[in-house]
Formats: sequence, structure tokens, C-alpha cells
Amino acid sequence: MIYYIDPLNKESIEKNCPSFYDIHIFDILDSTNTWLQEHSGLPEGTVILADEQTRGRGRNGRCFHSPKGSGIYCSLLLTPQENLLDVLECTAMAAVACIKAIEEQYNLACSIKWLNDILLDQKKLAGILCEGKLYQNHMEYLIIGIGINVHSFIRPKELESIAASIEDYTAIKKPRNELIAKFLTAFYSYYSKSDDFRSLYRQRLAFVQKTIQVITPQETYSAILLGVDDRCRLKIQKADGSIDYLSSGEISIRL
Ligand code: BTN
Repeated sequence: MIYYIDPLNKESIEKNCPSFYDIHIFDILDSTNTWLQEHSGLPEGTVILADEQTRGRGRNGRCFHSPKGSGIYCSLLLTPQENLLDVLECTAMAAVACIKAIEEQYNLACSIKWLNDILLDQKKLAGILCEGKLYQNHMEYLIIGIGINVHSFIRPKELESIAASIEDYTAIKKPRNELIAKFLTAFYSYYSKSDDFRSLYRQRLAFVQKTIQVITPQETYSAILLGVDDRCRLKIQKADGSIDYLSSGEISIRL
């Protein structure tokens, strides 16, 4: 349900964020990540926003519900020069930029469910899908896709207990353009290394010292979540006491 008209606007976003970005807005796309993959020759800093997505994609082949005018559906093109800067680190920067922007704009303190979900009250407010193309040992490009549920909307039944919107938790109503600019500004400060994202990442990591389920394509097992290392890998302790560092996979706390 949309309570007020909240149009996306290129100029109002651009005037509030670094000149690194070149913003393009569409009324409707199948997926902003897919569009950018098909136009990956565009310059670094290209940002694609859509007011609605018909086939918004999440991790592991899932859909990202993207109703018109309700959320932020955004993809950002990067061409990182550093070999070490990878999908994991860029996903972490985007997660921290997202929680920082939500906190500044709405005074809500979210947490991060490794690797790519932003939670409030254990419900998912936002998700990140980082996709890249490898060329001779370095990333030819990276696309950071982020979807943030902003305005309250009627959720499909299967999302009712797991997803939420920012406005389910606050009476503050502000233009999406402001949140987008705050997110892009924070992200650039981490990407350009003017600010550190790791300490906030550690502070807001969800389920520390809790028993989690680790889900990989091969197996699912229980472990204790200990934290993240400097490469943003998840540090866990397995049932046999051994320590492991995960750079992919998924976690769940539903035992
Ligand atoms: C997830 O929850 O697994 C990640 C969701 C990522 C959704 C965003 S919305 C903008 C961009 N375009 C997509 O198709 N997906 C990402």
C-alpha cells in the first residue's frame, strides 16, 4: 500500500552525493542488476534505479519482491582495481552503508545477517546481491544490487513473517531520494577508503555467540557464530570445536 507519492528524482539524489556517481532512473525494469549486467561497459559509478522491478532477483535464485513505489531497487557498477577487493568485501560495505543510511534517516538501528541481509526486529528490511565477472584473476566488474523495503506494502503470504518495511517501525516519512543519497554517500566513503566500515560491521553483526545453521550446497550443519575476520569471512566454531572461516554459503537461526 502506498501512502503518498514519492517519485525518484535524479537531480535531488545527485546534488546530495559524490560526483563519482552517474544516476539513471527507470519507471520499471525486470531487474536493475540484469540491466546493468547487459550494459557492463558503462563507466564505474553508474547507478541504476527502478521504481518497480518485475523480476527482482535475490541470492540463490530467489525473487526479491519489488512493488511499484514501495522500495529502493538499486544497482551500482564498480570496476575495482584491487585484486583483493572482492564480492564479500563489497557486500559488507553495502550492508554497512545501508544500516548507516537507515540510522541517519530514521533513527532505527538495524543489524546485519551475514552475508547480505539487513534485519530489524529479526525481520528482513533489505537484501544485497553482489554479482561480478572475473577476468584473469581480477574482477572485470562488480554489480552491487540492493533492495530496501521503505514504504509499508501488502506482502505476499510467504513473506509476512520474514520481511518488513522501514515504515512498519517508524512514523517518519521521508523521500526515498534522501535515503538513496545517504546510502550512496556512505558506500563511497568506504569504497574510496576515507572511512572504515569494519568496526560498524562487527558491532552490528547479528547472532554473535549464537548457534546457527550453516547452509552450503553440499551440507547443512550447526555451528557457533564467533564474528567476522578482516576479509569479512564469517568465523564459526563447529560442533567438533574446530574453527572455520566461511566466504560463501548462507546462515539461518531456524534450528
Ligand atoms: C537477497 O535478498 O538475496 C538480495 C536481494 C537483492 C535485491 C536487489 S533489488 C535491486 C537489485 N536488482 C535485483 O534484481 N536484485 C537487487
